[in-house]
Amino acid sequence: MKQDNLTVITHPLVKAKITQMRDKNTTTKEFGELVDEISGLMCYEITRNIELEEVEVETPITKTIGYKMKGNDMAIVPILRAGLGMVKGIHQLIPTAKVGHIGLYRDHDTLQPVEYLCKLPSDLSSRDVILVDPMLATGGSAIKAIEILKDKGAKSVRLACLVGCPEGVEAVQNIYPEVPIFLAALDERLNENGYIVPGLGDAGDRLYGTM
Ligand code: PRP
Ligand code: URA
Repeated sequence: MKQDNLTVITHPLVKAKITQMRDKNTTTKEFGELVDEISGLMCYEITRNIELEEVEVETPITKTIGYKMKGNDMAIVPILRAGLGMVKGIHQLIPTAKVGHIGLYRDHDTLQPVEYLCKLPSDLSSRDVILVDPMLATGGSAIKAIEILKDKGAKSVRLACLVGCPEGVEAVQNIYPEVPIFLAALDERLNENGYIVPGLGDAGDRLYGTM
């Protein structure tokens, strides 16, 4: 696993909230709120390298120079279902972002991603894409989603997941070494059923109460 393009967020607020998410007694409502809050906190790191340009601003006291985001606007693209839970926390911090959707589910037997929906902004190629999904397990879903984004013209993609494991990070890095990966936690491993250990179980089921 290469460290170059991998950021694991170590902020105490994130660590404490991820721990609450892991707890099997956390309710569906609490789980959704935690996904929302952690996504917002991660945004701070995800956007750290966004380019700014200077703008003049007039305060009630005087004119001064401030900043606005330069050039490309952003697009937030969740991998459905579970990725949807991460949109609000990021969108409220980057309200000019457009939101695209990629629907993928992991086949239970093969663990391969199956595409069922793709609706992306038409000006994708001029936007910086933040691809979001709570779980990076085998990496199959993220790789498929990046492939779809690139096919549709995306030039800049960042991947933000809440919980990942070395197998998933390596799989993405092997195919898309240029894609920066942001995680709120890097767990130990995958188990024989393709679940992250210790993980938090099935993120989509826990978000939507479909256990
Ligand atoms: C989960 C998760 C990721 C995928 C990760 O989705 O939200 O999309 O599994 O696994 P991978 O890295 O091995 O591909 P799932 O397929 O369960 O669909 P859901 O979001 O609709 O529950
Ligand atoms: N998808 C999940 O929701 N959880 C895992 O642990 C692995 C894949």
